[in-house]
Amino acid sequence: MANTALLLMMLMITSLLMALTEASWAESVEAKKEATPLETITNLQFYFHDTVSGKNPSAVRVAQAANSDKSPTLFGVLLMADDPLTETPDPNSKLVGRAQGLYGSSGQQEFGLIMAMSFAFTDGTFNGSSISIFGKNPALHPVRELPVVGGTGVFRLARGYAIAKTYRLDSTGDAIVGYNFTVTHQS
Ligand SMILES: *[C@@H]1O[C@H](CO)[C@@H](O)[C@H](O)[C@H]1NC(C)=O
Ligand SMILES: *[C@@H]1O[C@H](CO)[C@@H](O)[C@H](O)[C@H]1NC(C)=O
Repeated sequence: MANTALLLMMLMITSLLMALTEASWAESVEAKKEATPLETITNLQFYFHDTVSGKNPSAVRVAQAANSDKSPTLFGVLLMADDPLTETPDPNSKLVGRAQGLYGSSGQQEFGLIMAMSFAFTDGTFNGSSISIFGKNPALHPVRELPVVGGTGVFRLARGYAIAKTYRLDSTGDAIVGYNFTVTHQS
């Protein structure tokens, strides 16, 4: 009997302690929330030049599956890209950064890419800062949306999206794509 009472008392103390711990944990989260600096929304527009043909391609095939070339969607082909980003669709317009990363053919039924890329800026206020995207890009659709998954520098804690619109697509596969980013970030 005495043992049961002791056990009950210990249980009560334990749950009281747990409640206290939970309360202080919630409080510290609230305090941190209030201390968060104001967020900024930035809109960025530039053009992405992806060259797969010729002597100096900016995107090269680095891997593929045994039957990728027989697939109507080139399923399994993986490319590494280091693509210049410019102010206007003209490749000779001002360079504002480079997009580096991987994209691969991920669709079996419909041609589509999965992209994991870092857009690193080299001009103006955003020089040295970057935005990372990861998502599906059904590249033959005229307009696509890609998720922003993070950033560095000015774009720390970035989230948002990019709207990609094909400006030109050659029969060789070379493409000029307009990117319009809407990004929320901390600084
Ligand atoms: C960008 O930053 C780098 C490193 O700080 C610097 O060398 C370069 O001149 C800057 N470029 C522009 C266009 O401001
Ligand atoms: C880019 O996106 C922003 C926000 O969605 C929009 O206001 C702007 O018109 C877009 N610009 C172009 C050129 O599509």
